[in-house]
Amino acid sequence: METASIPKAEIHVHIEGTVTPSLAETLAKRNGISLPADVLALKNRFRWPDFNEFLKGYDLIAACIRSGRDYEDVVYDYLRRCAAEGTIYVEYFGSSDHAEMSGIPYEEMLAGMVRAIDRAEVDFGIVCRIIMTCVRHLGPERAVNVARLTVDQAHDYVVGFGMGGDEKAYHPKDFAPAFEIAHEAGLACTSHAGEVCGPQSVTDTLDYLPVVRIGHGVRAIEDEKLVQRIIDQGITLECCPGSNIALGIYEDLDRHPLPALMQAGCMVTLNSDDPPHFETTIGQEYKNAARHWGFDRGRLIEITRTSLEASFADDATKSKLIGRLS
Ligand code: ADE
Ligand code: ZN
Repeated sequence: METASIPKAEIHVHIEGTVTPSLAETLAKRNGISLPADVLALKNRFRWPDFNEFLKGYDLIAACIRSGRDYEDVVYDYLRRCAAEGTIYVEYFGSSDHAEMSGIPYEEMLAGMVRAIDRAEVDFGIVCRIIMTCVRHLGPERAVNVARLTVDQAHDYVVGFGMGGDEKAYHPKDFAPAFEIAHEAGLACTSHAGEVCGPQSVTDTLDYLPVVRIGHGVRAIEDEKLVQRIIDQGITLECCPGSNIALGIYEDLDRHPLPALMQAGCMVTLNSDDPPHFETTIGQEYKNAARHWGFDRGRLIEITRTSLEASFADDATKSKLIGRLS
């Protein structure tokens, strides 16, 4: 089945994780950084042996971004590629911690991102918003700092607050103060859980954090009661099948629980997570769902609708986008 013409939406992607090897090379040259040759051995993708190596590699590539202009190039380049695959909406994770580690002030990072989002909407008709995220393994204090920056320097395009990073580090309750700051300021929240760790991680996240979406959440399938809770609470799962396979969470798409979660009644979405790191794109995720799971055009459009309904954009933006589905 042809999936190119299906309108797509992406609500789980890390902006530093969208940088391709060729863009990393450009940025590294621009900023006088030398990257190990083996990292750039392949043109369109990186290769990491496991989750921890991936997180290290991710930081190495993120460190090539050194200015607001670099962020502008990264965001614009990603939105151009997404639009070329029929994507009408992207809600990406920004990380002020990564900007700070590169010496970029929050306002400079955000200004670059906003310029790219505005240009991409004019040039490609794609709409984009940002979820600011903290990095779990950097700890709760830095998370509070990210939440404060996000709230104090509020912008219409920054519509949510989230958390990525190493799921094994700390406990969700340690991050309750950070999430409370964001939630009280009216930002919708999401957190990674049930990716590397099992269903208890999802349960703890729902118990302690004011989230309405879960990043991944696929391992909830191992706990029937939790699946029911996800349905009852109206939690949307930001599923990233290609990422799960690349990181060895599941051996192949036949073993991936997305179809079972959908069948059970969960709201599931399709996303690319860190596309060049996992040899995927948002278009590829839709293609795989059609090929491997037999999802037809109607079902794939329903997935896009679920993403748009679960998006943290304002209601007017959401209904305009939903109106573009056919
Ligand atoms: N940061 C970037 N990609 C991530 C992933 N797949 N899981 C957790 N943190 C991340
Ligand atoms: Zn992620």
